[in-house]
Amino acid sequence: MIEDLLTADCAVAEAFDDSAAVALFPQEAALMEGRVARRRRQFATGRSCARRALGRLGVPPAPLLPGPGGAPVWPQGVVGSITHCDGYLAAAVAPARAVAAVGIDAEPALPLPEGVLSLVAGPEEQEALSAFGTEGAAACRDRLLFSAKEAVYKAWYPRARRWSALREIRVVLDPGGTFTARPPARGPAGAAQHDYSGRWLVRSGLLLAAVLEPAPAGHPSRLFRLSS
Ligand SMILES: CC(C)(COP(=O)(O)OP(=O)(O)OC[C@H]1O[C@@H](n2cnc3c(N)ncnc32)[C@H](O)[C@@H]1OP(=O)(O)O)[C@@H](O)C(=O)NCCC(=O)NCCS
Repeated sequence: MIEDLLTADCAVAEAFDDSAAVALFPQEAALMEGRVARRRRQFATGRSCARRALGRLGVPPAPLLPGPGGAPVWPQGVVGSITHCDGYLAAAVAPARAVAAVGIDAEPALPLPEGVLSLVAGPEEQEALSAFGTEGAAACRDRLLFSAKEAVYKAWYPRARRWSALREIRVVLDPGGTFTARPPARGPAGAAQHDYSGRWLVRSGLLLAAVLEPAPAGHPSRLFRLSS
């Protein structure tokens, strides 16, 4: 499903449950010692998806360890993103020469718990959601906004290398399945902000969001065409 939100530059792999046994590298297994079973299964299946996706780029299996902030340290020359929620786990990777950053997020297609929206969205974003409607996919419009922000955060963090509250990431959703986002500036105060374009979908009880930043000398023919 996640491939429907990304360009042909990306290689993806997904799983709809985390029950299959996955062989981890010793360094990865060590990270999961003492963790609850659900976390171990999600971590392992996420690594399995990542290795399958990397394999499609011709990258051989190797330990995929978390770096600062929890973002995976991808092999040299590769960017990527991992997501997991109940019933869906996926990884998306791309050559860095074509894609500067990618972020993916999966959530159950359900409204957010009471009180969460005001933590992650400002008054203007909350107001914009009311115009989004409540039918079909819009029934989980607040979680859709949340998921878009999570996808942007995952693409933004590895280059910004600093934490940001989701509230600082401004997202404008389009009911047609796209969104635009403005994260905080990556560099010091006053540095140019970089906007993102993303896509979302709601299908089979799941909500997926993805964002991709083309490399400066990327392939224009493969970029998102938001107007189509
Ligand atoms: C990091 C964060 C985006 C993860 O999102 P999530 O919905 O909890 O979890 P997902 O399953 O979709 O994604 C988890 C994966 O994201 C990746 N990830 C974790 N931290 C990351 C970061 N800083 N940058 C990029 N990717 C990251 C990892 O691959 C992780 O899986 P792994 O640990 O098994 O490798 C989220 O927890 C977060 O910190 N958000 C921004 C900060 C914030 O405002 N949080 C409060 C929300 S109310």
